[in-house]
Amino acid sequence: MNKEIALIRGDGIGPDVVEEAVKVLNSVAKKYNHVFFYKEVIAGGRAIDMFNNPLPKEQLELCLNADSVLLGAVGGPKWDNLEQNLRPEKALLGLRGGMKVFANLRPAHMFPQLKSASPLKDEIIASGIDILIVRELTGGIYFGEKGMSPDGNSAWDTEMYSKKEIERILKVGFEAAEKRCKKVTVVDKANILSSSRLWRTVAENIHREYPEIELNFLYVDNAAMQLVRNPSQFDVIATSNMFGDILSDEASQLTGSIGLLASASLGDGSGPGLYEPIHGSAPDIAGKNIANPLAAILSAALMLRYDFKLEDEALAIENAVNSVLDEGWRTLDIAGNVEKTRALGKLVGTKEMGDRVVSALLNN
Ligand code: IPM
Ligand code: MN
Repeated sequence: MNKEIALIRGDGIGPDVVEEAVKVLNSVAKKYNHVFFYKEVIAGGRAIDMFNNPLPKEQLELCLNADSVLLGAVGGPKWDNLEQNLRPEKALLGLRGGMKVFANLRPAHMFPQLKSASPLKDEIIASGIDILIVRELTGGIYFGEKGMSPDGNSAWDTEMYSKKEIERILKVGFEAAEKRCKKVTVVDKANILSSSRLWRTVAENIHREYPEIELNFLYVDNAAMQLVRNPSQFDVIATSNMFGDILSDEASQLTGSIGLLASASLGDGSGPGLYEPIHGSAPDIAGKNIANPLAAILSAALMLRYDFKLEDEALAIENAVNSVLDEGWRTLDIAGNVEKTRALGKLVGTKEMGDRVVSALLNN
């Protein structure tokens, strides 16, 4: 298979982790006889420095014309004081909206080897954590009308969802649940928000097409609490853009480290998907060979699965990551007792972690 992948290395640790994901993709290509071509796309802080625009149109076009897009991370303190339209985050929203990737899948899976890195008590995580957060990504308050009064004394953002937007994201949620544990939890704030009440009505209607799936509803405040009280009750969580943003950070920490969580952002299937670790650009550790590349590597696995339909190859990456963790290799964020890990000779940097995954993949 020949595929062209757009790489947005981005800012901070973005370039560090994308480099390792590319190494792993190249070893998949070698092992399974595929050819992956790469093209570089500049977005985020780097694009502000170079073009005074976080996402120039030509850069978005490069993504739209690729078979898939891999992104590291964007942003950093250097650009924090710019006005809203010139911030690196604008590139992310521009990519998501421009590529029409409305469905953001964020699997929060706890590797059993890393149980001790979870802040939750053993008895709470005894039955594991395996949650798929299905976050709506191109609507809601992120994209709704916003503004400020001329005197600067008030400002607003709008949460608005159409039936069509809710339907298509919930379908993704139900279909994902069919392949998992057959349970969908819709998270909302229907006791307060009318947009949430529309989510509930639409969910109940669509549920008729998926009678074998159990559907329940939770208010977002309760869901945030239930995630730490009893995370194994969740299978698929389907929710709005902002609630999904918040709950996925929470869920990632429960699995041990935000450095492990991959994500896939998908549209209607007619264009490329956008794959990125959910962590940020962590400028304080950028370029130091410390960052955990596993979330980026696992995002590449999702790319193979969803955009290229290469399930065996995706599994090969996931199994390689699993065996590297089995062998005890740890980056700083998942080391637990750092001194002990170092003494055992198992503390590795970004590049070594990538190399370990490559050799596990090629030797299995
Ligand atoms: C994420 C990030 C982004 C978001 C920010 C950087 C705009 O937190 O991908 O979760 O809020 O969606
Ligand atoms: Mn976030």
